[in-house]
Amino acid sequence: MNPFIQLTQWISEERLAGIPFAQGAVLGTVGHDGIPKTRMLGVHFDEVGVPRFHTSPTSRKVIDIGINRYASITFAFQRSLRSVSIEGVLDEIPHGQLISDWLALDPKFRRSYLIFGHRSGQSADSDVLFEQLLKELPPGAENEIPLSFIGYRFSHVSRIAYYSVGSGNFAEHVVFTGDGNGKNWLYSRVVP
Ligand SMILES: Cc1cc2nc3c(=O)[nH]c(=O)nc-3n(C[C@H](O)[C@H](O)[C@H](O)COP(=O)(O)O)c2cc1C
Repeated sequence: MNPFIQLTQWISEERLAGIPFAQGAVLGTVGHDGIPKTRMLGVHFDEVGVPRFHTSPTSRKVIDIGINRYASITFAFQRSLRSVSIEGVLDEIPHGQLISDWLALDPKFRRSYLIFGHRSGQSADSDVLFEQLLKELPPGAENEIPLSFIGYRFSHVSRIAYYSVGSGNFAEHVVFTGDGNGKNWLYSRVVP
């Protein structure tokens, strides 16, 4: 049983239904202050469907994850009225994977990222300056991965919840709870 398969299927169906950023999800973290924080992200998947995402080391989520590796992401599929919520523990994406992820990104985005990635979250003094810096970037600079491109993957997943509001009288709510090793999953249907 692989509880991630359904997630990648639902993303494909949402994309086919016309949603361009169906792989977008909201990441929730909690830092030292105990205050929950959420933000949207683009999510990628490995060959068995384990989610991962990329970010910048200067962002608040990185500070949170450095203190508390427990996190949750929720995909909200508004076209198909479905959601998937995943809870687990994050680990850094290994460097080899990061390099291939970086090179798979659109070169135009990579060039912009070279300008903004290491400044993410700081006060944006002048967009004009950013445009100027982008113009001055040497050709091919985007082919080398910057230190500002980092990411996390769910190394342990404790719970995956699928919720679907169909045309019937009752929504469907299915929950997988795991032992954290991704091998043994308990499947249960839950009252919606
Ligand atoms: C469509 C969209 C995609 C985004 N993708 C990412 C992403 O993949 N990684 C990321 O760190 N931030 C992404 N962001 C920005 C985050 O939502 C957030 O504003 C930023 O990471 C700072 O969050 P933090 O201060 O809570 O860490 C995206 C925002 C939008 C609207």
